[in-house]
Amino acid sequence: MSDIAKIEIDGNSYEFPIYVGTENEKAIDVKKLRALTGGVTTIDPGYKNTGSCISEITFLNGEEGILRYRGYCIEELAEKADFLEVAYLLIFGELPTQEQLQKFENDIKDNAILDDDLRKILEAFPRKAHPMGVLASLTSALTAFNPSSVDASSEEAMYNAIVKIMGKLPVLVAWTMRKSKGLPLDYGNKKLGYIENLLQMMFKQPNEKYKVNPIIKNALDKLLILHADHEQNCSTSTVRIVGSSHAGLFASLSAGISALWGPLHGGANQAVLEMLAAIQEDGGDTAKYMAKAKDKNDPFRLMGFGHRVYKNFDPRAKIIKVAADEVLADLGVEDPILDIAKGLEREALKDDYFVSRKLYPNVDFYSGIIYRAMGIPTEMFTVMFALGRLPGWIAQWKEMRQNNEPIGRPRQIYIGKNIRPFVSIENR
Ligand code: CMC
Repeated sequence: MSDIAKIEIDGNSYEFPIYVGTENEKAIDVKKLRALTGGVTTIDPGYKNTGSCISEITFLNGEEGILRYRGYCIEELAEKADFLEVAYLLIFGELPTQEQLQKFENDIKDNAILDDDLRKILEAFPRKAHPMGVLASLTSALTAFNPSSVDASSEEAMYNAIVKIMGKLPVLVAWTMRKSKGLPLDYGNKKLGYIENLLQMMFKQPNEKYKVNPIIKNALDKLLILHADHEQNCSTSTVRIVGSSHAGLFASLSAGISALWGPLHGGANQAVLEMLAAIQEDGGDTAKYMAKAKDKNDPFRLMGFGHRVYKNFDPRAKIIKVAADEVLADLGVEDPILDIAKGLEREALKDDYFVSRKLYPNVDFYSGIIYRAMGIPTEMFTVMFALGRLPGWIAQWKEMRQNNEPIGRPRQIYIGKNIRPFVSIENR
Protein backbone atom coordinates (compact mmCIF):
# COMPACT_ATOMS: atom_id res chain seq x y z
CA MET A 1 0.00 0.00 0.00
CA SER A 2 1.29 3.46 -0.83
CA ASP A 3 1.63 5.99 1.97
CA ILE A 4 -0.48 8.53 0.09
CA ALA A 5 -4.20 8.46 -0.73
CA LYS A 6 -5.40 10.40 -3.77
CA ILE A 7 -8.89 11.83 -4.02
CA GLU A 8 -10.27 13.43 -7.16
CA ILE A 9 -13.05 15.99 -6.84
CA ASP A 10 -14.39 18.01 -9.78
CA GLY A 11 -11.28 17.19 -11.82
CA ASN A 12 -8.86 18.30 -9.09
CA SER A 13 -6.60 15.75 -7.41
CA TYR A 14 -5.70 15.95 -3.72
CA GLU A 15 -3.23 13.87 -1.76
CA PHE A 16 -3.61 12.77 1.85
CA PRO A 17 -1.10 10.97 4.04
CA ILE A 18 -1.80 7.46 5.28
CA TYR A 19 -1.48 7.18 9.04
CA VAL A 20 -0.11 3.81 10.22
CA GLY A 21 -0.60 2.49 13.77
CA THR A 22 1.76 0.21 15.70
CA GLU A 23 -0.30 -2.84 14.66
CA ASN A 24 -0.12 -1.72 11.04
CA GLU A 25 -3.68 -0.39 10.95
CA LYS A 26 -3.98 2.22 8.22
CA ALA A 27 -6.08 5.38 8.08
CA ILE A 28 -6.41 8.15 5.52
CA ASP A 29 -5.52 11.33 7.37
CA VAL A 30 -8.22 13.78 6.23
CA LYS A 31 -7.37 16.56 8.71
CA LYS A 32 -6.66 18.97 5.82
CA LEU A 33 -9.57 17.81 3.61
CA ARG A 34 -11.81 20.85 4.06
CA ALA A 35 -8.98 23.34 3.89
CA LEU A 36 -7.55 21.87 0.67
CA THR A 37 -10.84 21.24 -1.13
CA GLY A 38 -12.69 24.40 -0.15
CA GLY A 39 -15.12 22.78 2.27
CA VAL A 40 -15.70 19.22 1.07
CA THR A 41 -16.37 16.98 4.04
CA THR A 42 -16.85 13.23 4.68
CA ILE A 43 -20.11 11.52 5.61
CA ASP A 44 -20.08 8.43 7.77
CA PRO A 45 -23.20 7.87 9.93
CA GLY A 46 -22.43 5.75 12.98
CA TYR A 47 -18.72 6.51 12.35
CA LYS A 48 -18.30 3.04 10.83
CA ASN A 49 -15.20 4.19 8.90
CA THR A 50 -14.00 7.03 11.08
CA GLY A 51 -11.05 6.99 13.45
CA SER A 52 -11.93 9.67 15.99
CA CYS A 53 -8.54 9.71 17.73
CA ILE A 54 -5.16 8.07 18.02
CA SER A 55 -4.81 6.07 21.20
CA GLU A 56 -2.25 3.99 23.08
CA ILE A 57 -4.72 2.25 25.38
CA THR A 58 -6.51 -0.69 23.75
CA PHE A 59 -5.90 -2.71 20.61
CA LEU A 60 -8.79 -4.58 19.06
CA ASN A 61 -8.78 -6.65 15.88
CA GLY A 62 -12.36 -7.56 15.09
CA GLU A 63 -11.53 -9.90 12.21
CA GLU A 64 -9.22 -12.05 14.31
CA GLY A 65 -11.01 -11.63 17.65
CA ILE A 66 -8.05 -9.98 19.43
CA LEU A 67 -8.34 -7.65 22.42
CA ARG A 68 -5.35 -6.24 24.30
CA TYR A 69 -5.04 -3.59 27.00
CA ARG A 70 -1.74 -1.67 26.71
CA GLY A 71 -0.31 -4.64 24.78
CA TYR A 72 -1.40 -7.35 27.23
CA CYS A 73 -3.82 -10.04 25.98
CA ILE A 74 -7.23 -10.00 27.59
CA GLU A 75 -7.02 -13.77 28.16
CA GLU A 76 -3.85 -13.39 30.22
CA LEU A 77 -5.11 -10.40 32.19
CA ALA A 78 -8.39 -12.16 33.01
CA GLU A 79 -6.47 -15.15 34.31
CA LYS A 80 -3.53 -13.54 36.11
CA ALA A 81 -4.39 -9.99 37.15
CA ASP A 82 -6.98 -8.46 39.42
CA PHE A 83 -9.32 -5.60 38.60
CA LEU A 84 -7.35 -2.85 40.36
CA GLU A 85 -4.12 -3.92 38.65
CA VAL A 86 -5.89 -3.75 35.29
CA ALA A 87 -7.41 -0.39 36.19
CA TYR A 88 -3.93 0.94 37.01
CA LEU A 89 -2.56 -0.49 33.77
CA LEU A 90 -5.26 1.13 31.66
CA ILE A 91 -5.10 4.51 33.38
CA PHE A 92 -1.34 4.89 33.86
CA GLY A 93 0.01 2.74 31.01
CA GLU A 94 2.04 0.08 32.90
CA LEU A 95 1.30 -2.75 35.30
CA PRO A 96 1.86 -1.43 38.83
CA THR A 97 4.60 -2.52 41.19
CA GLN A 98 3.43 -3.83 44.57
CA GLU A 99 4.03 -0.36 46.13
CA GLN A 100 2.26 1.50 43.34
CA LEU A 101 -0.74 -0.82 43.60
CA GLN A 102 -0.87 -0.48 47.38
CA LYS A 103 -0.79 3.31 47.19
CA PHE A 104 -3.47 3.32 44.48
CA GLU A 105 -5.70 1.07 46.57
CA ASN A 106 -5.16 3.10 49.75
CA ASP A 107 -5.91 6.38 47.96
CA ILE A 108 -9.09 4.86 46.52
CA LYS A 109 -10.19 3.66 49.96
CA ASP A 110 -9.45 7.07 51.49
CA ASN A 111 -11.79 8.63 48.96
CA ALA A 112 -14.66 6.18 49.22
CA ILE A 113 -16.87 8.28 51.50
CA LEU A 114 -19.79 10.19 49.99
CA ASP A 115 -21.20 13.45 51.26
CA ASP A 116 -24.22 12.53 53.34
CA ASP A 117 -26.37 14.97 51.34
CA LEU A 118 -25.95 12.66 48.34
CA ARG A 119 -28.03 10.18 50.27
CA LYS A 120 -30.89 12.70 50.20
CA ILE A 121 -30.70 12.87 46.42
CA LEU A 122 -30.77 9.07 46.24
CA GLU A 123 -33.73 8.97 48.61
CA ALA A 124 -35.70 11.26 46.30
CA PHE A 125 -35.67 8.69 43.46
CA PRO A 126 -38.61 6.30 43.14
CA ARG A 127 -37.65 2.85 44.37
CA LYS A 128 -38.50 1.36 40.99
CA ALA A 129 -36.31 3.84 39.04
CA HIS A 130 -33.91 2.08 36.68
CA PRO A 131 -30.53 1.92 38.47
CA MET A 132 -28.67 3.19 35.38
CA GLY A 133 -30.66 6.45 35.48
CA VAL A 134 -29.98 6.76 39.19
CA LEU A 135 -26.27 6.03 38.75
CA ALA A 136 -25.87 8.55 35.93
CA SER A 137 -27.61 11.24 38.00
CA LEU A 138 -25.61 10.59 41.16
CA THR A 139 -22.33 10.48 39.22
CA SER A 140 -23.17 13.85 37.73
CA ALA A 141 -24.17 15.17 41.18
CA LEU A 142 -20.74 14.18 42.52
CA THR A 143 -19.24 17.25 40.82
CA ALA A 144 -21.36 19.50 43.03
CA PHE A 145 -19.87 17.89 46.13
CA ASN A 146 -16.32 17.70 44.71
CA PRO A 147 -15.88 20.87 42.62
CA SER A 148 -12.09 20.45 42.47
CA SER A 149 -12.59 17.29 40.38
CA VAL A 150 -13.06 19.40 37.22
CA ASP A 151 -9.40 20.42 37.43
CA ALA A 152 -7.38 18.58 34.80
CA SER A 153 -4.49 21.04 34.71
CA SER A 154 -1.87 18.69 36.17
CA GLU A 155 -1.12 15.00 36.63
CA GLU A 156 -1.75 15.47 40.37
CA ALA A 157 -5.15 17.13 39.89
CA MET A 158 -6.18 14.33 37.52
CA TYR A 159 -4.96 11.69 39.97
CA ASN A 160 -7.08 13.21 42.75
CA ALA A 161 -10.22 13.12 40.60
CA ILE A 162 -9.42 9.56 39.47
CA VAL A 163 -9.03 8.05 42.96
CA LYS A 164 -12.16 9.91 44.07
CA ILE A 165 -14.34 8.34 41.40
CA MET A 166 -12.68 4.91 41.70
CA GLY A 167 -13.55 5.05 45.42
CA LYS A 168 -17.02 6.53 45.18
CA LEU A 169 -18.54 4.72 42.20
CA PRO A 170 -18.65 1.26 43.87
CA VAL A 171 -20.47 2.87 46.82
CA LEU A 172 -22.98 4.45 44.44
CA VAL A 173 -23.40 1.12 42.62
CA ALA A 174 -24.09 -0.70 45.89
CA TRP A 175 -26.39 2.05 47.19
CA THR A 176 -28.37 2.07 43.96
CA MET A 177 -29.05 -1.63 44.40
CA ARG A 178 -29.78 -1.39 48.13
CA LYS A 179 -32.20 1.46 47.51
CA SER A 180 -34.16 -0.65 45.00
CA LYS A 181 -34.39 -3.42 47.62
CA GLY A 182 -35.25 -1.10 50.51
CA LEU A 183 -32.06 -2.01 52.40
CA PRO A 184 -30.13 0.46 54.60
CA LEU A 185 -27.09 2.02 52.95
CA ASP A 186 -23.69 0.75 53.90
CA TYR A 187 -20.02 1.74 53.44
CA GLY A 188 -18.67 -1.78 53.73
CA ASN A 189 -15.32 -2.27 55.40
CA LYS A 190 -12.11 -0.40 54.56
CA LYS A 191 -10.05 -3.46 55.45
CA LEU A 192 -11.52 -5.47 52.58
CA GLY A 193 -10.20 -5.50 49.02
CA TYR A 194 -12.02 -3.57 46.26
CA ILE A 195 -14.19 -6.45 45.05
CA GLU A 196 -14.85 -7.98 48.49
CA ASN A 197 -15.92 -4.61 49.79
CA LEU A 198 -18.20 -4.06 46.80
CA LEU A 199 -19.88 -7.42 47.43
CA GLN A 200 -20.27 -6.64 51.11
CA MET A 201 -21.76 -3.22 50.36
CA MET A 202 -24.21 -4.81 47.94
CA PHE A 203 -25.26 -7.91 49.80
CA LYS A 204 -24.72 -7.51 53.55
CA GLN A 205 -27.98 -7.92 55.45
CA PRO A 206 -28.29 -5.52 58.41
CA ASN A 207 -28.78 -8.35 60.92
CA GLU A 208 -26.03 -10.76 59.90
CA LYS A 209 -22.32 -10.96 59.12
CA TYR A 210 -21.41 -11.15 55.45
CA LYS A 211 -18.85 -13.65 54.30
CA VAL A 212 -17.44 -13.20 50.81
CA ASN A 213 -17.74 -16.30 48.65
CA PRO A 214 -14.37 -16.62 46.83
CA ILE A 215 -16.04 -18.13 43.74
CA ILE A 216 -18.27 -15.08 43.40
CA LYS A 217 -15.38 -12.71 44.15
CA ASN A 218 -13.14 -14.25 41.49
CA ALA A 219 -15.90 -14.38 38.90
CA LEU A 220 -16.79 -10.72 39.49
CA ASP A 221 -13.13 -9.72 39.31
CA LYS A 222 -12.85 -11.47 35.94
CA LEU A 223 -16.08 -9.95 34.60
CA LEU A 224 -14.98 -6.44 35.54
CA ILE A 225 -11.58 -6.97 33.88
CA LEU A 226 -13.24 -8.19 30.68
CA HIS A 227 -15.41 -5.06 30.58
CA ALA A 228 -12.68 -2.60 31.55
CA ASP A 229 -12.03 -1.06 28.13
CA HIS A 230 -13.05 -1.54 24.53
CA GLU A 231 -11.54 1.43 22.69
CA GLN A 232 -13.89 3.87 20.92
CA ASN A 233 -17.32 2.30 21.57
CA CYS A 234 -20.45 4.43 22.01
CA SER A 235 -20.03 5.23 25.73
CA THR A 236 -16.26 5.78 25.54
CA SER A 237 -16.62 8.08 22.55
CA THR A 238 -19.28 9.91 24.56
CA VAL A 239 -16.91 10.32 27.52
CA ARG A 240 -14.19 11.64 25.21
CA ILE A 241 -16.47 14.03 23.34
CA VAL A 242 -18.08 15.43 26.49
CA GLY A 243 -14.65 15.74 28.11
CA SER A 244 -13.34 17.48 24.99
CA SER A 245 -15.42 20.55 25.91
CA HIS A 246 -13.42 20.52 29.18
CA ALA A 247 -16.44 19.47 31.19
CA GLY A 248 -15.10 17.67 34.27
CA LEU A 249 -14.36 13.97 34.64
CA PHE A 250 -17.51 13.14 36.60
CA ALA A 251 -19.82 14.94 34.12
CA SER A 252 -18.11 13.09 31.25
CA LEU A 253 -18.51 9.76 33.05
CA SER A 254 -22.16 10.47 33.78
CA ALA A 255 -22.74 10.98 30.05
CA GLY A 256 -20.87 7.71 29.38
CA ILE A 257 -23.12 5.86 31.82
CA SER A 258 -26.19 7.18 29.99
CA ALA A 259 -24.74 6.07 26.66
CA LEU A 260 -23.99 2.62 28.04
CA TRP A 261 -27.58 2.19 29.24
CA GLY A 262 -29.05 1.55 25.77
CA PRO A 263 -29.88 -2.05 24.79
CA LEU A 264 -27.68 -1.90 21.68
CA HIS A 265 -24.70 -1.21 23.95
CA GLY A 266 -24.23 -2.16 27.62
CA GLY A 267 -27.97 -2.51 28.21
CA ALA A 268 -27.78 -5.66 26.09
CA ASN A 269 -26.81 -7.74 29.15
CA GLN A 270 -30.17 -7.01 30.76
CA ALA A 271 -31.94 -7.45 27.42
CA VAL A 272 -30.28 -10.86 26.88
CA LEU A 273 -31.49 -12.21 30.17
CA GLU A 274 -34.99 -10.87 29.61
CA MET A 275 -34.96 -12.47 26.15
CA LEU A 276 -33.78 -15.84 27.49
CA ALA A 277 -36.41 -15.71 30.27
CA ALA A 278 -39.11 -14.89 27.70
CA ILE A 279 -38.02 -17.83 25.52
CA GLN A 280 -38.11 -20.10 28.56
CA GLU A 281 -41.59 -18.90 29.51
CA ASP A 282 -42.71 -19.45 25.93
CA GLY A 283 -41.77 -23.13 26.17
CA GLY A 284 -38.10 -22.88 25.17
CA ASP A 285 -38.82 -22.76 21.43
CA THR A 286 -35.50 -21.28 20.26
CA ALA A 287 -36.32 -21.89 16.56
CA LYS A 288 -39.25 -19.47 16.84
CA TYR A 289 -36.98 -16.72 18.16
CA MET A 290 -34.31 -17.44 15.55
CA ALA A 291 -36.99 -16.95 12.89
CA LYS A 292 -38.12 -13.69 14.51
CA ALA A 293 -34.53 -12.41 14.58
CA LYS A 294 -34.17 -13.11 10.85
CA ASP A 295 -37.52 -11.61 9.87
CA LYS A 296 -36.86 -8.12 8.51
CA ASN A 297 -40.46 -7.11 9.33
CA ASP A 298 -39.94 -7.99 12.98
CA PRO A 299 -37.90 -5.53 15.08
CA PHE A 300 -36.74 -8.40 17.33
CA ARG A 301 -32.97 -8.96 17.39
CA LEU A 302 -31.09 -11.76 19.00
CA MET A 303 -29.72 -9.79 21.94
CA GLY A 304 -26.10 -10.57 22.79
CA PHE A 305 -25.33 -11.34 19.14
CA GLY A 306 -23.41 -9.23 16.69
CA HIS A 307 -20.89 -6.49 17.20
CA ARG A 308 -19.88 -3.38 15.32
CA VAL A 309 -16.23 -4.36 15.34
CA TYR A 310 -16.02 -8.13 15.94
CA LYS A 311 -16.64 -10.13 12.81
CA ASN A 312 -15.40 -13.20 14.63
CA PHE A 313 -15.89 -14.56 18.15
CA ASP A 314 -15.81 -11.80 20.75
CA PRO A 315 -12.79 -12.99 22.80
CA ARG A 316 -14.53 -11.80 25.97
CA ALA A 317 -17.55 -14.00 25.21
CA LYS A 318 -15.30 -17.06 24.90
CA ILE A 319 -13.88 -16.46 28.38
CA ILE A 320 -17.27 -15.64 29.90
CA LYS A 321 -18.91 -18.75 28.46
CA VAL A 322 -16.34 -20.97 30.19
CA ALA A 323 -16.63 -18.89 33.38
CA ALA A 324 -20.44 -19.25 33.35
CA ASP A 325 -20.11 -23.03 33.29
CA GLU A 326 -17.54 -22.98 36.10
CA VAL A 327 -19.36 -20.50 38.33
CA LEU A 328 -22.70 -22.26 38.05
CA ALA A 329 -21.08 -25.63 38.75
CA ASP A 330 -19.05 -24.25 41.70
CA LEU A 331 -22.10 -22.58 43.19
CA GLY A 332 -24.21 -25.67 42.55
CA VAL A 333 -26.69 -23.61 40.52
CA GLU A 334 -28.63 -25.29 37.75
CA ASP A 335 -30.03 -22.64 35.49
CA PRO A 336 -32.13 -23.83 32.53
CA ILE A 337 -31.55 -20.43 30.97
CA LEU A 338 -27.91 -21.42 30.37
CA ASP A 339 -29.13 -24.35 28.27
CA ILE A 340 -31.38 -22.04 26.26
CA ALA A 341 -28.42 -19.72 25.67
CA LYS A 342 -26.22 -22.58 24.51
CA GLY A 343 -28.98 -23.88 22.24
CA LEU A 344 -29.45 -20.46 20.65
CA GLU A 345 -25.70 -20.11 20.16
CA ARG A 346 -25.46 -23.55 18.53
CA GLU A 347 -28.30 -22.76 16.13
CA ALA A 348 -27.03 -19.29 15.26
CA LEU A 349 -23.49 -20.49 14.55
CA LYS A 350 -24.75 -22.79 11.80
CA ASP A 351 -27.49 -20.57 10.46
CA ASP A 352 -26.75 -18.92 7.13
CA TYR A 353 -28.31 -15.57 8.21
CA PHE A 354 -25.95 -15.25 11.19
CA VAL A 355 -22.93 -16.85 9.49
CA SER A 356 -23.12 -14.65 6.38
CA ARG A 357 -23.40 -11.49 8.53
CA LYS A 358 -20.64 -12.68 10.85
CA LEU A 359 -22.88 -12.42 13.90
CA TYR A 360 -21.28 -14.15 16.90
CA PRO A 361 -22.11 -14.05 20.61
CA ASN A 362 -20.74 -10.89 22.23
CA VAL A 363 -19.60 -10.11 25.78
CA ASP A 364 -23.17 -9.67 26.97
CA PHE A 365 -24.51 -13.04 25.85
CA TYR A 366 -23.33 -15.02 28.88
CA SER A 367 -22.44 -12.34 31.46
CA GLY A 368 -26.03 -11.98 32.75
CA ILE A 369 -26.18 -15.68 33.52
CA ILE A 370 -23.20 -15.28 35.87
CA TYR A 371 -24.58 -12.10 37.44
CA ARG A 372 -27.88 -13.90 38.03
CA ALA A 373 -26.10 -16.82 39.70
CA MET A 374 -24.39 -14.29 41.98
CA GLY A 375 -27.77 -12.94 43.08
CA ILE A 376 -27.47 -9.63 41.23
CA PRO A 377 -30.88 -8.33 40.03
CA THR A 378 -31.34 -8.14 36.25
CA GLU A 379 -31.74 -4.34 36.25
CA MET A 380 -28.31 -4.05 37.90
CA PHE A 381 -26.43 -5.89 35.12
CA THR A 382 -25.64 -2.76 33.12
CA VAL A 383 -24.60 -0.99 36.32
CA MET A 384 -22.02 -3.76 36.83
CA PHE A 385 -20.85 -3.19 33.25
CA ALA A 386 -20.47 0.53 34.04
CA LEU A 387 -18.34 -0.21 37.09
CA GLY A 388 -16.14 -2.51 35.00
CA ARG A 389 -15.83 0.10 32.23
CA LEU A 390 -14.90 2.88 34.68
CA PRO A 391 -11.08 2.49 34.34
CA GLY A 392 -11.37 2.47 30.55
CA TRP A 393 -13.46 5.62 30.50
CA ILE A 394 -11.02 7.31 32.89
CA ALA A 395 -7.99 6.23 30.83
CA GLN A 396 -9.57 7.50 27.61
CA TRP A 397 -10.61 10.81 29.19
CA LYS A 398 -7.12 11.28 30.63
CA GLU A 399 -5.44 10.50 27.31
CA MET A 400 -7.77 12.90 25.50
CA ARG A 401 -7.05 15.76 27.94
CA GLN A 402 -3.30 15.08 28.01
CA ASN A 403 -3.12 15.00 24.21
CA ASN A 404 -4.91 18.35 24.19
CA GLU A 405 -7.43 17.05 21.71
CA PRO A 406 -9.65 19.68 20.07
CA ILE A 407 -13.32 19.89 21.00
CA GLY A 408 -15.32 17.13 19.27
CA ARG A 409 -17.57 18.70 16.70
CA PRO A 410 -18.55 16.62 13.65
CA ARG A 411 -19.93 18.15 10.44
CA GLN A 412 -23.16 17.25 8.67
CA ILE A 413 -24.65 17.43 5.20
CA TYR A 414 -27.80 19.52 5.29
CA ILE A 415 -30.72 18.11 3.26
CA GLY A 416 -33.49 20.38 4.54
CA LYS A 417 -35.39 23.17 2.79
CA ASN A 418 -33.51 25.92 0.97
CA ILE A 419 -34.09 29.52 2.00
CA ARG A 420 -37.76 30.58 1.93
CA PRO A 421 -39.71 33.63 3.10
CA PHE A 422 -41.52 33.59 6.45
CA VAL A 423 -45.30 33.06 6.15
CA SER A 424 -47.39 34.84 8.76
CA ILE A 425 -49.72 32.61 10.84
CA GLU A 426 -52.99 33.76 9.19
CA ASN A 427 -51.65 32.77 5.75
CA ARG A 428 -50.48 29.22 6.66
N1 CMC B 1 -29.97 -10.17 15.53
C1 CMC B 1 -30.41 -10.22 14.25
N2 CMC B 1 -29.83 -9.57 13.23
C2 CMC B 1 -28.77 -8.79 13.51
C3 CMC B 1 -28.26 -8.69 14.82
C4 CMC B 1 -28.91 -9.41 15.84
N3 CMC B 1 -28.46 -9.32 17.11
N4 CMC B 1 -27.20 -7.86 14.81
C5 CMC B 1 -27.03 -7.45 13.55
N5 CMC B 1 -27.98 -8.03 12.76
C6 CMC B 1 -28.10 -7.89 11.29
C7 CMC B 1 -28.71 -6.54 10.91
O1 CMC B 1 -30.12 -6.63 10.81
C8 CMC B 1 -28.04 -6.31 9.59
O2 CMC B 1 -28.67 -7.12 8.62
P1 CMC B 1 -28.79 -6.61 7.07
O3 CMC B 1 -27.37 -6.50 6.59
O4 CMC B 1 -29.60 -7.65 6.41
O5 CMC B 1 -29.48 -5.28 7.15
C9 CMC B 1 -26.63 -6.85 9.78
O6 CMC B 1 -26.78 -7.88 10.76
C10 CMC B 1 -25.61 -5.82 10.26
O7 CMC B 1 -26.11 -5.22 11.44
P2 CMC B 1 -25.97 -3.68 11.81
O8 CMC B 1 -27.07 -3.29 12.75
O9 CMC B 1 -25.82 -2.88 10.56
O10 CMC B 1 -24.57 -3.70 12.55
P3 CMC B 1 -24.04 -2.60 13.53
O11 CMC B 1 -22.58 -2.71 13.52
O12 CMC B 1 -24.63 -1.26 13.22
O13 CMC B 1 -24.66 -3.03 14.96
C11 CMC B 1 -24.95 -4.10 17.06
C12 CMC B 1 -23.95 -3.76 15.92
C13 CMC B 1 -24.17 -4.63 18.25
C14 CMC B 1 -25.68 -2.81 17.51
C15 CMC B 1 -25.96 -5.15 16.54
O14 CMC B 1 -25.29 -6.34 16.17
C16 CMC B 1 -27.04 -5.48 17.58
O15 CMC B 1 -28.05 -4.75 17.64
N6 CMC B 1 -26.85 -6.54 18.41
C17 CMC B 1 -27.78 -6.85 19.48
C18 CMC B 1 -27.49 -5.94 20.68
C19 CMC B 1 -26.25 -6.35 21.42
O16 CMC B 1 -26.04 -7.51 21.73
N7 CMC B 1 -25.43 -5.33 21.77
C20 CMC B 1 -24.22 -5.55 22.59
C21 CMC B 1 -22.97 -5.26 21.84
S1 CMC B 1 -21.52 -5.83 22.73
C22 CMC B 1 -21.47 -4.90 24.19
C23 CMC B 1 -20.98 -3.55 23.92
O17 CMC B 1 -19.74 -3.38 23.91
O18 CMC B 1 -21.77 -2.64 23.74
